[in-house]
Amino acid sequence: MAETDTPKIEKPMVLVVACALVDADGRVLITQRPEGKTLAGLWEFPGGKVDPGEVPEEALIRELHEELGIETKTSCLAPLTFASFSYEKFHLLMPLYVCRRFWGIPEGREGQALKWVRPNRLRDYPMPPADEPLIPFLTDLL
Ligand code: C5P
Repeated sequence: MAETDTPKIEKPMVLVVACALVDADGRVLITQRPEGKTLAGLWEFPGGKVDPGEVPEEALIRELHEELGIETKTSCLAPLTFASFSYEKFHLLMPLYVCRRFWGIPEGREGQALKWVRPNRLRDYPMPPADEPLIPFLTDLL
């Protein structure tokens, strides 16, 4: 391949959307990936895959309802940044939204543990490599 050629993308691109839910004390919710899932035991910002035909905000509202039993709406989701990470089998693109307004009390509807964490303590929790670089954006913001 000549140096000027554009390299081929050989891995599929997976679009996952994630959310920093923020409570009244400025703490952020993280959830622990349950046994049986890839990266089990690691802590992540809640969210999930964007289905075909969905925009990221719709997917996030759906995932927050399915995973945590809470409701929110598009006007309560502020885009902050996005993660981009090349896993062995796919490339992950993951926008991160901040949500300070939601209805209901989050509960782990899929058996996942939950923790409300001060942004400066997020590093105490092992995270997937895609999520970790998002932490400074939250410590700067909150
Ligand atoms: O949650 P789910 O398994 O559907 O996500 C697909 C993949 O995206 C995971 O296997 C993981 O590699 C990645 N992921 C991530 N950080 C998240 C959510 C998912 O790195 N917060």
